[in-house]
Amino acid sequence: MGKKRVLSGIQTTGSLHLGNYLGAIRNWVEIQKEYDNFIFVADLHAITVPHEPKTLAANTRTIAALYLACGIDLEYATIFVQSHVSAHSELTWLFNCITPLNWLERMIQFKEKAVKQGENVSVGLLDYPVLMAADILLYEADLVPVGEDQKQHIELTRDIAIRINDRFGKKKEPVLKIPEPLIRKAGARVMSLADGTRKMSKSDPSEMSRIELLDAPEAIKKKIKRCKTDPVKGLSFDDPERPECNNLLNLYTILAGKTKEEVAAECQDMGWGQFKPLLTETTIAALEPIQSKYFELIEDRGYLDSVLKQGQEKAESVANRTLSRVKQALGYLPRF
Ligand code: AMP
Ligand code: TRP
Repeated sequence: MGKKRVLSGIQTTGSLHLGNYLGAIRNWVEIQKEYDNFIFVADLHAITVPHEPKTLAANTRTIAALYLACGIDLEYATIFVQSHVSAHSELTWLFNCITPLNWLERMIQFKEKAVKQGENVSVGLLDYPVLMAADILLYEADLVPVGEDQKQHIELTRDIAIRINDRFGKKKEPVLKIPEPLIRKAGARVMSLADGTRKMSKSDPSEMSRIELLDAPEAIKKKIKRCKTDPVKGLSFDDPERPECNNLLNLYTILAGKTKEEVAAECQDMGWGQFKPLLTETTIAALEPIQSKYFELIEDRGYLDSVLKQGQEKAESVANRTLSRVKQALGYLPRF
């Protein structure tokens, strides 16, 4: 038996932040040795909301370099760009014709994003989860490690796969493998620095609401200094009245590599004036090695592009096999 397969990706919209790192990338790195990993840059998803062509290619390289800088290891992982493997788009079309419209209209993220877009909601935004299903099912992924916000999309992916297997598969030969989500509790939902009840997000118009992985120490200091807190003295976890306090303590726990019990004891008598510098120092120290690796990698474009080219070739060979199998199951005349 070979290793089980893991697949995940992040969209190229905006800069990666602590939520992306703690909710996603860090978890991929932690488990990578046990699996055969496919990690991609979701640049097709990036144009589901209005995008800037001038920065798309650079953002794509930045995210790929950050994957490596955060510790994704090419010995265990294939890193590639979604738009370089055309099977993603093609399988999306086939899935589109099999996915009921009302499955997509129910998606929480669509509803939230659609409100923000006002009149300007593209068909692509509604179709986003179908593309995501294609991403996952093309690679016959066993596990999809994501943050909590993506759980509903993985459930939809499973529903699409089950529907195709039921309609077009044979009993003993399913067309598609059914994946499982992998959602870690710690870091699964990093909240905004400006409002502890909203998640930290690339699309929040205020940069003060998030710490980006490439933020300079000064910026980190400023953001933590100004972040929202409360007037209560003594810091504690899990108080529903104190979402900001809970979020900042969680961040500190994970970034310092401590246990919740240790941090609860350490911070129970602290005020914000004492805690904020501690969190600032810990955050800067945790991001420093990632940043210095990143700047090295982004300078070496030849190397980075060669990684993505190799990734493209490997990903394509796996993806095209699945695509052919689905087309065959749907009854298409094979290519000549
Ligand atoms: P996105 O920024 O929406 O492209 O998300 C990329 C990955 O990061 C997904 O696995 C998300 O679940 C995860 N993620 C995004 N924001 C957060 C957050 N605030 N807390 C935890 N995970 C997050
Ligand atoms: N939609 C995901 C996000 O915003 C990114 C993504 C696209 C993804 N395709 C995927 C994640 C497939 C996991 C598997 O986070």
